[in-house]
Amino acid sequence: MNAHYTTHDDVAVITLNNPPVNGLSLAVRQGVAQSLAQANADPGIVAIIITGAGKAFSGGADIREFGTPKAIQEPNLLSLIQAIEHSAKPVVAAIHSVAMGGGLELALGCHYRIAALGCKVAMPEVKLGLIPGAGGTQRLPRVLGVEAALNMIVSGEAVPSEVLAGVAQQKLFDSLATSQQSLLEEAITLAREKASVRPLPLVRLLPCQHPKGDAYFQFARNMVGAMSKHYPAPLKCVDAVEFATQKKFEEGMALEREIFLNLMLTPECRALRHVFMAERAASKIADVPEDTPRRAISQVAVIGAGTMGGGISMNFLNAGIPVTILETQQQALDRGLATIRKNYEAQVAKGKLKQDKYEQRMALLKPTLNYADIKDADLVIEAVFEEMGVKEIVFRKLDEVMKPGAILASNTSTLDLNKIASFTTRAQDVVGLHFFSPANVMKLLEVVRGEKTAKDVLATVMAMAKTIKKTAVVSGVCDGFIGNRMIEQYSRQAGFLLEEGCTPAQVDKAIEKFGFAMGPFRMSDLAGNDIGWAIRKRRYVEKPTMRYSKTADLLCELGRFGQKTGAGWYDYKPGKRDALPSQLVVDMIDQYRKQQGISPRKISEEEIVQRLVYALVNEAARILEDGIAAKASDIDMVYLTGYGFPLWRGGPMQYADTVGLFNVMQSMQRFARNPMDDADFWQPAPLLAKLVAEGRTFN
Ligand code: NAI
Repeated sequence: MNAHYTTHDDVAVITLNNPPVNGLSLAVRQGVAQSLAQANADPGIVAIIITGAGKAFSGGADIREFGTPKAIQEPNLLSLIQAIEHSAKPVVAAIHSVAMGGGLELALGCHYRIAALGCKVAMPEVKLGLIPGAGGTQRLPRVLGVEAALNMIVSGEAVPSEVLAGVAQQKLFDSLATSQQSLLEEAITLAREKASVRPLPLVRLLPCQHPKGDAYFQFARNMVGAMSKHYPAPLKCVDAVEFATQKKFEEGMALEREIFLNLMLTPECRALRHVFMAERAASKIADVPEDTPRRAISQVAVIGAGTMGGGISMNFLNAGIPVTILETQQQALDRGLATIRKNYEAQVAKGKLKQDKYEQRMALLKPTLNYADIKDADLVIEAVFEEMGVKEIVFRKLDEVMKPGAILASNTSTLDLNKIASFTTRAQDVVGLHFFSPANVMKLLEVVRGEKTAKDVLATVMAMAKTIKKTAVVSGVCDGFIGNRMIEQYSRQAGFLLEEGCTPAQVDKAIEKFGFAMGPFRMSDLAGNDIGWAIRKRRYVEKPTMRYSKTADLLCELGRFGQKTGAGWYDYKPGKRDALPSQLVVDMIDQYRKQQGISPRKISEEEIVQRLVYALVNEAARILEDGIAAKASDIDMVYLTGYGFPLWRGGPMQYADTVGLFNVMQSMQRFARNPMDDADFWQPAPLLAKLVAEGRTFN
């Protein structure tokens, strides 16, 4: 039972106790129901308090029970709230720290509520593609007023209790306790004061009106609709709150339930719940126990002050961790520092960073040309040129100078981490930290696990990733790791689409409509077309039979490297980022087709999307099979946080599961029969074929 029952003379106290946030698991609900019955049966008890142990009143549903029968088993939250409402003795919710979702709904079922200062209150269900499902949409407007309640429900954002207490005529809190320490004492006083007040006040009996109902809800629908294009839940929040103003309470509750259950079945809700779990799962590594000791990281060194070194340093400075940045030339060091300053100054100019914070951050940054200055760093991240020879020089030097136990990390995007580790006598301390550009902005961090990387090194960098607010995903060693290995196949397929009849703009438009932040050609223009050119040159040598469209090479031969040269797949006006379709490129592709004897055909947007996304999925299945990624959900996290895959589709693997793997494989087989495509390309990965045969899914 996860609820404690104690008595303070004539007041019973029920304490939710289910760390970390007192999620309302079946055991907690059973415990509360039993304690409630016990208190009601005890003639010596005049009032009851419900509070939470540890660091929350309650964070809501217990995520460990998501999707299991326990989540809905009786007493479910609805019936527990009813039991509280029907209690013959007054029930006071004593709220502190956090009251979210189901936790707040439980409190709304109590007769009185007292909150400790500094408490955060939220209805975050919308973030999982849902609406509150245990009366939140019907009770919150009755205590806060329609507008304040709808704002909370539709945004899902946490609001401090002090702000809510200030809402005119609010009835959410009957009083505010002066501190968390005195909360229980003050709750007991309140409970005794109210012990004999009858009838017991119920939120459900309060009126719920808006003076300009129709106009207000119309306005709310326009606003919310415009901001939540791909998500059904926010508009449903508006509907549910409107019902609270129009219908009898019980009817409103039934409608809320119906909406909740319908949303639960939508692909968007499934995707958002998947992402929620996937994010938590990504930080866990099967063979690295949670209690693995971690090394302390209080000083960081970065080697190379180029594009990546500067951005990487900013992450640590932002987290208040001192960074020493090392270059071989003063000029390069000055240039790197100037870029970091420029980035911060842009944030100050936009009002996103205060001047004093900027100065504090810069004060934590120490530039140097001398390895002696970094020897005491706990973590050193190398971000020098992408050449094995240069990496070798750096890692041999690091091995020589760094203190024992320091973590030696490389930001390499393509090179063999095991080889890099072999340049040292401490391969167990070497790990890959593959940041994405711009490194101070992008959420994704691929943690590359070498053959010999020690478990405590992994545990340390996973925790460090949280400190610098990155989503870390572990990848094994292979060319391109998880993300870039997949994107190479996606780019190849984009090239075949050009050959067959598309323009770059058509391809980009189709996939952007699907929801990608940027199509492959705009993305390539941004990253620099020369990067892919260099990779292809290497591939032609390694795998001479592998087919690529030569159009991208022709583009590079014209010097059209993308935004940085003012021209790539698109044209760019000086200083502008708008991609303007280029007739020259269209003609170049056309001429290429003629030389190859290809007569172009019109390709539907559906086919474009399928070919691009399934190219990712097929390679991802191979990555899973090879053990480069430990689980399909890790691959989803890589694509959601590093490659602009649409969140409401849950990542490429989740999307493939939603389409149905059988359907995905059927499409691949159809593409393989297209003589203009590449039959080898579309050989289904053995894992995909196996899952289809067994009727299973990736996630
Ligand atoms: P960059 O060319 O902008 O910067 C490299 C810096 O390293 C230069 O400032 C150079 O002076 C310095 N450097 C070279 N040799 C050095 C040495 N021996 N000691 C100290 N400093 C030295 O390159 P960028 O783009 O920052 O890439 C760095 C690394 O990050 C590469 O391994 C690259 O593959 C990887 N990477 C790059 C990404 C990108 O989008 N640019 C994304 C993810 C990883």
